[in-house]
Amino acid sequence: MTGLAVAVLVLANLGAASPAAAAGDPRHGEYVARLGGCHSCHTDARKKGAPLAGGLELKSPFGTFRVPNITPDPDTGIGRWSDDDFIRAMTDGVAPGGSHYYPAFPYTSYTRMARQDLLDLKAHLGTVKPVRNAVPPHDLRFPYNFRFALGAWKWLFFRPGTFKPDPQKSASWNRGAYLVTGPGHCGECHTARNFLGASRQNHALAGAKQGPDGNRVPNITPHPKKGIGLWAASDMVNFLKTGDLPFGESVDYPMDEIIANNTSHWTDQDRNSTAQYLLSLPVRTTP
Ligand code: HEC
Ligand code: HEC
Repeated sequence: MTGLAVAVLVLANLGAASPAAAAGDPRHGEYVARLGGCHSCHTDARKKGAPLAGGLELKSPFGTFRVPNITPDPDTGIGRWSDDDFIRAMTDGVAPGGSHYYPAFPYTSYTRMARQDLLDLKAHLGTVKPVRNAVPPHDLRFPYNFRFALGAWKWLFFRPGTFKPDPQKSASWNRGAYLVTGPGHCGECHTARNFLGASRQNHALAGAKQGPDGNRVPNITPHPKKGIGLWAASDMVNFLKTGDLPFGESVDYPMDEIIANNTSHWTDQDRNSTAQYLLSLPVRTTP
């Protein structure tokens, strides 16, 4: 081996041992939590639950999910988790013990999140007040109560992988695509699902007759009559900031909460990028 090769190997090992490489930035992570809407599900706001301490009940056709505690409490939260445990949960939908998560946890979108955003988010979660709150298990109907069946569901429908920018498009468009399809998980409600609960990607963002809680979800592709085709980019930016619809009404539950908890805290630049991306989508109809 040449001296140079040895030097390169030594340097590479030094690099791997440096602790700075793993650290996330908790301040940026707090913003990432707003991009991802973690509070909407993990904080039981109606029952005045502590931030991120879980307990919210999510009703679904499969039964009731009880959202877990993600504060850093070592016993009832995620205080013992490593960064890699967290990244695996968020991007592969796999728990530290190896079991599969239900897609009621939108890892199907979070899988597109950038590694650095996830490390920053984990660092932020580490700074939240630890709260002891043991959340009872889900109450799901047969056969949905069998977690191992999720392996088959994921094999059929889950496509893991970080967001890949389109080099033909601008940085702002790509940022919008990242926000909508990744942390913002807009398609989890605005895309219709098949009878096994998987999103119908050829109708992406075209709305659903029955959304997660059984109500209609609007089409947010630029369809001139049934979508946002008549909205200006500035209408969308204003909507994501205030919840005001362009034609003089304001939006209802649950979108009002998503705006209050998440998009109203986004930067103007991020709201602009979201508008630019949504208005560039192909026109699609609700299936
Ligand atoms: C739409 C509701 C929803 C949103 C939004 C959501 N989660 Fe969850 N999350 C869940 C549910 C439901 C589970 C439980 C899944 C299961 O048991 O299979 C879960 C599980 C988790 C777990 C695993 C906890 C454990 O004890 O195993 C982590 C970590 C987590 N979520 C982090 C986050 C983060 C970080 C965000 C924001 C970026 C987020 N979640 C947003 C619903 C949500
Ligand atoms: C938890 C489900 C859910 C998520 C997640 C969600 N939405 Fe919505 N959204 C809705 C529902 C339901 C409505 C209709 C509310 C009403 O009836 O006023 C709505 C309304 C809207 C509207 C108004 C459309 C119109 O024509 O009235 C826009 C625009 C919109 N959402 C964009 C987004 C974007 C962008 C995201 C991601 C950042 C997002 N939504 C995430 C459920 C959701």
